[in-house]
Amino acid sequence: MNDHVRLVIENGIGVVTIDRQEALNALDDGVLAGLEEAFLALGRDPSVRAVILTGAGKAFVAGADIKAMAAFTPVEARAFAQRGQRIFTLIEDYPHPVIAAVNGYALGGGCELAMTCDIRIASEKAKAGQPEVNLGVLPGFGGTQRLARIMGRSAAKYLLFTGEVIGAARGLELGLFNEVVAPENLLPRCMEIAAAIAAKAPVAVSFVKHAVNEGTDGPMAHGLSLEAELFAGTFGTQDQKEGMRAFIDKRPPQFLGK
Ligand code: HXC
Repeated sequence: MNDHVRLVIENGIGVVTIDRQEALNALDDGVLAGLEEAFLALGRDPSVRAVILTGAGKAFVAGADIKAMAAFTPVEARAFAQRGQRIFTLIEDYPHPVIAAVNGYALGGGCELAMTCDIRIASEKAKAGQPEVNLGVLPGFGGTQRLARIMGRSAAKYLLFTGEVIGAARGLELGLFNEVVAPENLLPRCMEIAAAIAAKAPVAVSFVKHAVNEGTDGPMAHGLSLEAELFAGTFGTQDQKEGMRAFIDKRPPQFLGK
């Protein structure tokens, strides 16, 4: 995509790798632009069924670029936060599942980026946290909102107030990570999950993501009504006919994604 973000698409699985290792993959303008380009390109490719997002080297992402932010005026700081939030929302709203392969430090904006993903698999070496209060600021790429939604307000406030950096095992206990694996198994395990998802009915999977993302922040009645509409929508797909016919015929389904 650019010097700092790579995208490879193979067998319906997209792999986005952030590679700015000299700054532990810190998010500057270039990395943000590369992420935006990568997810726009993924959105244009109808073959993609699942995406893995990871970092090259010893970090996932060590945060927004502190050196770039140091001299911001309040106006520039707001614009930076809003730009990042817009790109992070693009990732969160990407219609197929996104798996964060958290290979190392996921701090500040890096933890916020991982939280835009649907599933987070951590290496035993992963470290996560929102250390912004050590710098005299607070999260600006959605950390106060997504951390509280993922682990509950109390556990989130503890991490946000203290800036404590937690290891993979604690992240698993708090529900930040779905699974923790040995470093060498991280990408293979994420590939295995992505392939399992890619084999399911793609429209149904995409509707599940939409139902959870759109339905769980508001009243239950809204979520249930959305779910019923999406359920009905699957009955207009060939994959619903194929999936149910294959069950009745006692054979594996062949999904087409339509
Ligand atoms: C810019 C960074 C960086 C960052 C690391 N680097 N994190 N540069 N922004 N967030 C750079 C270092 O300056 C250094 O470059 C190189 O990467 C290697 O880092 P070291 O510190 O030497 O590595 P190490 O001793 O292994 O320590 C790793 C670390 C530490 C614990 C992750 O780098 C660290 O604490 N980083 C900052 C983490 C952080 O506070 N993140 C939150 C940022 S605020 P040089 O050139 O000196 O060798 C944020 C706000 C988001 O994310 C919202 C914005 C709207």
